[in-house]
Amino acid sequence: MEAMDYDTEKPSKSNKKAIIWSVILTTLIVGTACVLATYFLHPDYGNTTPPDSEPVSKEPPTQGPPLEEIYRVECLPGQFPSEEQCLAKGCLYGETTVEGVPWCHFPENYGAYRMVGSREDRPWGFQVRLQRIEGVPSQFGGDIDSVILAVEYQTTNRLHFKFYDPGNQRFEVPLSMPGTPESQPSNPNYEVRMTENPFSLRIIRKATGTVLWDTSFGAFTFADQFLSISTKLPSSNVYGFGEHEHSSFRHDLNWRTWGMFSRDQPPSDGANLYGVHPFYMSLEEDTKAHGVFLLNSNAQEVSLQPTPALTYRTIGGVLDFYMFLGPTPENVVQQYTEAIGRPYLPPYWALGFQLCKYDYGDLDTVKEVVASMRQYDIPHDIQYGDIDYMLRQLDFTVNPDTYDGLGEFVKQIKEEGTRYIIILDPAIAANETTGSYPPYDEGVRDNVFLTKSNGDIMFGKVWPDYPDLPGGTCPYEEWEEAVENCRAYAAMPDFRKPATREWWTRHIVDFHDNQVEFDGIWIDMNEPASFVHGSVNGCGDNKYDNPAFKPRIWGPVLADKTMCMNAISYVTDSQPDLQYNMHSLYGWSQTLPSLEAAREAVGDKKRSFVVTRSTYPGSGRYAGHWLGDNTSRWRDMGMSIIGMMDFSLFGMSYTGADICGFFQDTTEALCRRWHQLGAFYPYSRNHNTINVAPQHPAVFGEDFALEVADVLRIRYRLLPFLYTLMAEAHIVGSTVVRPLMHEFTSDSVTWDLDRQFLWGPSLMVSPVLDEGHVELNMYVPKGPWYDYYTGAMVNRNVEQTWVTVPTPEDTINLHVRGGYIIPTQQPANSTMWSRSKPFGLIVALDSVDYASGNLFWDDGETVSTYENEEYYMVEFNAEKGSLRSTITHPHDTLVNDLVLDDIHIWGVSDNINTVILNGVTLEESKWDFDTTKRVFTLSDLNQPMKTDFILTWT
Ligand code: NOJ
Repeated sequence: MEAMDYDTEKPSKSNKKAIIWSVILTTLIVGTACVLATYFLHPDYGNTTPPDSEPVSKEPPTQGPPLEEIYRVECLPGQFPSEEQCLAKGCLYGETTVEGVPWCHFPENYGAYRMVGSREDRPWGFQVRLQRIEGVPSQFGGDIDSVILAVEYQTTNRLHFKFYDPGNQRFEVPLSMPGTPESQPSNPNYEVRMTENPFSLRIIRKATGTVLWDTSFGAFTFADQFLSISTKLPSSNVYGFGEHEHSSFRHDLNWRTWGMFSRDQPPSDGANLYGVHPFYMSLEEDTKAHGVFLLNSNAQEVSLQPTPALTYRTIGGVLDFYMFLGPTPENVVQQYTEAIGRPYLPPYWALGFQLCKYDYGDLDTVKEVVASMRQYDIPHDIQYGDIDYMLRQLDFTVNPDTYDGLGEFVKQIKEEGTRYIIILDPAIAANETTGSYPPYDEGVRDNVFLTKSNGDIMFGKVWPDYPDLPGGTCPYEEWEEAVENCRAYAAMPDFRKPATREWWTRHIVDFHDNQVEFDGIWIDMNEPASFVHGSVNGCGDNKYDNPAFKPRIWGPVLADKTMCMNAISYVTDSQPDLQYNMHSLYGWSQTLPSLEAAREAVGDKKRSFVVTRSTYPGSGRYAGHWLGDNTSRWRDMGMSIIGMMDFSLFGMSYTGADICGFFQDTTEALCRRWHQLGAFYPYSRNHNTINVAPQHPAVFGEDFALEVADVLRIRYRLLPFLYTLMAEAHIVGSTVVRPLMHEFTSDSVTWDLDRQFLWGPSLMVSPVLDEGHVELNMYVPKGPWYDYYTGAMVNRNVEQTWVTVPTPEDTINLHVRGGYIIPTQQPANSTMWSRSKPFGLIVALDSVDYASGNLFWDDGETVSTYENEEYYMVEFNAEKGSLRSTITHPHDTLVNDLVLDDIHIWGVSDNINTVILNGVTLEESKWDFDTTKRVFTLSDLNQPMKTDFILTWT
C-alpha cells in the first residue's frame, strides 16, 4: 500500500475534507459493526445480564472493516502481537506499510469502563464511580474493577481531574499542589461532559466550544501496572513533554512515542533524558492555548498521532491531571507555575559567564585558564570544579596531589569577582577504610541510604574509585573493565528522609567551612545514575523490575543505568516506598536539600545557587538546569534553543546548554558561534568533558578571545533586563527564554519557529546555527523592530516578513521590539563590578511613539527579597516627545549610589531641537539626533536612580 500523506504537519483543506468524509463513512460502517461487536464483547452494554458463557476474549471477534489509520490507537503496546493474539484481546488487526501506525488497535467505541450510579456533586465539583465492564479482555492483567473520577473545579482556568482506586491507596507524587477548593469558581472557562457506557470524558472550552479533551478514543485502562488514557486533541500544535532532545519545538505528531523516565542519557533522538516533565501545551486552531499536566512519576510514555490525538501510558500511581485554560501561551505557563511553583530567582552573579571543564588536570591549569580570562578581560563570574578536584571522585574531598591549595585559590578569585561552584554527585563511596571517610560512615550510622527490602544498603557504582588502585589511578581504558575493577561500591542517599537532609547539610557546611568556600552547588548524576544496572548484585526477579508492560524508555530493563526498582525509597519521613515510584523524583528530591545546605554553608541569608541535571515539575523552584551532555556539533547547538524553550514551558527559566559542546573536540568556528548564542542563555556556561581539547574562550587566540569578550559584554550590558525578566518569572511565572509564538500567537509562522527566540517580550535573538554561513534568513514578526547595534529600524508597520541579513563571523543578530524599554548597565568583567556602574535605557518606540519597560533591582543575593519587599522597582514610559520614570517600589539604600547615564531612543519621528531633563534644558554636548536613522542618543546624564525623572524633547 502507498504511504498516505498523513505525515504532512497540517492537513490541507481538501485533505481535511477527504478525511472528514472518510471519517463519516467509516464511522457509519465501522460504528454499526462495532456497536454490534461491542454488544457481544461487553455483556453489560445496554444493561443486559452478563451471560454465563465463556469470556468473550476466548472467542476472537470477527475482523471488522479496517479503521481509518489515523484513528488507530495501539492495543497491546510494545508487544507486537500476532493477529490471533490481537483479536483475543478484543482488538482489530490490520497490517499497514505506514511507519508507526499500529497493526493491532482498538475498535472504535471501545471501552473498558462504564459509569455506575449517578454523578455525586460536591462543593468542589463532582465525582463518579467507574466499573470495569465484565468480559472485556485484560491487556496486561491486574485490572482494577472500581475507579473513582474526581473532578475539581479549582479556579476559573484550572481544572483538576483524577482517576484513582478507592479500595487501595496507590502511590501519589509528593509534590505540593493546590489543595481541594472549598467551593467552585462561579463561571469556569471549561465544561466537563461524560458518556456513561462506555465511559468517556470531554472537556470543552466554554467560550469557543472547542473540545480540548475527548477520551472516547482508544481505551481508558486502570490496572495495577498499566494505566492508560487517550484523547483527541483540538489541533496539531502540541509543545512540551520532556526531557528529550526534540528536533522541532512544535511536536511531530506523526506516530511518535516519547518515553519519560529519568535517565543518565546524553541527548539522543527519541531517548528519555535526565528529567521527566509530563506537561504539554496545545495551541488550538483559533490560537487559544491550554496546557495539561499529568502528575505521575512512574515510568511512562506518551504516543502522539496525527488524528490529532495522544495516549498516555504509565505503569503506576494514579491518573492525576491538571488542565490550564490559558488562553494565551504565557497564561498557560503562568497558571502551570502557579500550581507547581514559580521559578527560583538566581543570584545576580549567576547570570554572569561561567567556565567549567571535566578534568583540567590540576589546579595550575585552572589558574592558567582563569589568568587567560583576565588577560583578555573576558567577563567571568563563575569558575567550576568538576569531579577531578576530588580525591578519587569522592564527594567532600580535595585531591591533595593535584588540587592542593584549592581553598586559597577560591578565596583569591572571589576577591577578584569570580565565584566558585563545586560539583557533588549523590553516590557516596563505600569502600573506604572505616573512619577515613565520614560521609559514608555517618551515612550508615544515620541510615540515610537507599536499601534493599531487608534493610541492607543497595550498592551501585558511579565515579568514586576503590582506595587501593595501583598508582592511585584506574589502569583500564575499557569502560566495563574500569567499572568492574576500579569503581567502588556506591550508596545512594535517600533525600526524602530528614536524617539524610541533616547529614547532607552537615557535610556540605563542613566542606565549605574547612576546605573550599564555594558559592553554590552543581548536582549531577542524580537520575540517579549508576554504572551497573540495578545494583552490584542485580535486582532479582520481581514485578517492579520486570513489569508486564515496559514503556518505550531506553535500556532493556527499567533499572538500566540506575538502581533497582525494588530499592526502598521514602516518600515522606515515615513512608517507605519503592524506586519504582520514586525513581524519576530522585533529582527533584535532592534539589531543595542541596539548596538549603548551600544556603546554610554560605550563610548571611544568601540565595546561593543549585544547578541540577535531573528535574521534575517543581524543580524550577529551587534550581537551574543545563541541558546535559551534548556534543560539539552544529545540530546540537541549534537544538539547545528548543531545549531551553521546552524548559520555559516546564517552569524552569534558568537554563542553557554546554557552550561549544561537551563531547568531542569542538572547532573554532562552532565555538565562536556557540559563544554568541550562549551569551543569551540565561545559564551561560562553557563546559566540556575529559580527554577532549580545551575550549575556554582564550584557547583559540587573541582575536577569538576578544570577540567572545565583546559578545559577553553585550550580555553584561543587558543583565539588568535579564534579571528583571528572571524576577518576573519568579513573581508571575512568565517565561524568560520565550518562543516567538508566545508573543505573536496569531501569526502562524511563529508556531514553528525554533531557531530564533526572545528574551521576554522584546529582545529577539537570531543566531547563525549553520557551519560556514555568514548571512541568515531571519523571520521578523510584525514590528517595528530595531537593530540592537545601530538602532536603525528594520520594519515599521511592515507586515511580518522573512529577511536575509548579513551575519559576519563575529556577529549575532539582535533586535529590539518597538513598544519596549530595556534597562541596561555598563559592563565589566564581573557582576561584582558591573552592578555599581551607571545604568542606561534602550527605548524602542512603536508606530505611535510609545514604549514602556521596567527594572527590578535588589542586592542580587539575599533570599526572598521580593517576598520581604527588599527590592526597588521602577517603570519607564515613553510617549511622543517624552520619557518618564516612576519608581513603583522605592528602596533608596539599594540605589543610593547608582545613576542613569545614557538613553538611546529609537524610531523618533519628529526632529529634535530642545531637550529638557527635569525642567532643565540639556546642553547639546549631552545629546545627539541622527536624522537618517531616527536615533536619539543621550549620555553623561548622571540622573540618580533614587528619584523619578522626566525627559522631554521638541
Ligand atoms: C556528567 C555531567 O553531565 C557532566 O557535565 C560532568 O562533566 C560529568 N558528569 C563529570 O562529572
